[in-house]
Amino acid sequence: MKTFLNILYWFLIVIALIQFIPVDRTNKPVDEKVNFVTVQNTPKNVTEILKKACYDCHSNETVYPNYAYVAPISWSIKNHINEGREHLNFSEWKNFNPDLKKNMLENSAKSVKDYSMPMTGYIAQHPEANLTKAERVLLVNYFEELLKSGKY
Ligand code: HEC
Repeated sequence: MKTFLNILYWFLIVIALIQFIPVDRTNKPVDEKVNFVTVQNTPKNVTEILKKACYDCHSNETVYPNYAYVAPISWSIKNHINEGREHLNFSEWKNFNPDLKKNMLENSAKSVKDYSMPMTGYIAQHPEANLTKAERVLLVNYFEELLKSGKY
């Protein structure tokens, strides 16, 4: 019992101490001139879906939930956001070259179609991101139309 209490004691100390390790949650300012939804003038329903299901990880408009302030959960969340932005950042859309944009649109359509995006763990905490079948079809069609038109 004594050993157990000892371990618990040190565990709690460590948890308390790691809260002081800073996590950078400041968003870069959004430049509307390069923001996907503005540049492509996305229809209102598409904009809504993107903002509620993708923008937290794939833009500079991340809204951090309360639990994102508790280490080590905060580290995992920040990691997902960094990685998400690395693969695709809608806030910096216009700065990407045409090949990259094509690739991102194709992968976006694919990942929404095969349910790999939005991430499952995210949906569990954000029920509004649990897109209905109709919402998925709408978003996929939008990406595919855009690819076909070549206007990106
Ligand atoms: C909780 C954060 C999160 C959300 C929300 C999210 N993504 Fe992702 N996304 C990631 C991460 C992390 C990766 C990189 C790792 C991976 O591919 O699983 C990624 C990767 C991607 C990729 C690249 C995949 C590839 O094959 O290169 C695309 C495209 C993508 N996401 C599109 C979307 C779209 C579209 C939405 C909204 C419908 C969305 N994501 C929502 C975190 C997220």
